[in-house]
Amino acid sequence: MTDIDSSSISFTAYYTGEVWRQHGLSSDIFKTNTGKTLFYLGQPIEKIAKTVMGFSTQTTLLQRHHMIDYVVKKAIEEQGVSQIVEIACGMSPRGVRFRQQYPDLHYIEADLPAMLAHKQRLLTEHGLLNEHHRVASINILAEDSADALAVVFAKQLDPQRKTLVITEGLINYFDLATISIFWQNLAQALKKFPQAGYVTDLYPNFPWHPMTKLINGFVYGLSKATKSHVSLHFKNEQAIIEGFKELGFAKTNVHIPESYYGVLPIPTQRVASLVRVVENWV
Ligand SMILES: C[S@@+](CC[C@H](N)C(=O)[O-])C[C@H]1O[C@@H](n2cnc3c(N)ncnc32)[C@H](O)[C@@H]1O
Repeated sequence: MTDIDSSSISFTAYYTGEVWRQHGLSSDIFKTNTGKTLFYLGQPIEKIAKTVMGFSTQTTLLQRHHMIDYVVKKAIEEQGVSQIVEIACGMSPRGVRFRQQYPDLHYIEADLPAMLAHKQRLLTEHGLLNEHHRVASINILAEDSADALAVVFAKQLDPQRKTLVITEGLINYFDLATISIFWQNLAQALKKFPQAGYVTDLYPNFPWHPMTKLINGFVYGLSKATKSHVSLHFKNEQAIIEGFKELGFAKTNVHIPESYYGVLPIPTQRVASLVRVVENWV
């Protein structure tokens, strides 16, 4: 798997980071020129999509972020999770927010070297890194090198702590065969902790969804722009649950944005939502 270079995806993290900041989920720590430029360039397309189709990328980005936060909060408060690894963290402000709320939490932000160096610089400038809030280079495609998941986990994590791994905005940049290898490795690695889970957003390939054809067209453009194999995974919720079971996860819950309308402060949209948040426990 290591001969694939997926670093071309990284720029999209700046756009998402700015969307979160513009909507009060992030802070000026993560304000970047690239993010601001991408955000303002994207505004006209976002407005047209929202007016004409009732759908916007920003709504989806906010929905997934709020829902993942909700699952993480419950994992900490109800399951006793005290160690979190956010893989492909990009400009995610989650580590900073959760560390403020739960000072005993161990939080490791992980990404490819270039993105991680930027994140590390921003966190260091604000005095936010310490022995409980760290950064680590992880390449989900690596299997033997120093940045391979199992190697980093063995070196960086406390095996006694209940642990949660997060990915957001990552998995659909890879075809199912490629990302499944990562998921299998992750399930194996998580079995070494007293209790462990994995939460991710996921864009399924719903045949019934009015947007699927359009999204598959958009996905083609996104694949070109990010030089990756963007693809939608699983045809329905049952397929998601069965898929993760086969990969080595014992229990899977699929969270749907509509279930949280009026419950979490998430934006709504008039068409059916596309994103799902998948919560897995080994
Ligand atoms: C679309 S961004 C998502 C970032 C952030 N989680 C968010 O939601 O905005 C994708 C992230 O994946 C990282 N990435 C790309 N390939 C990766 C890999 N092979 N291993 C780990 N991270 C990777 C990129 O550097 C980038 O930060």
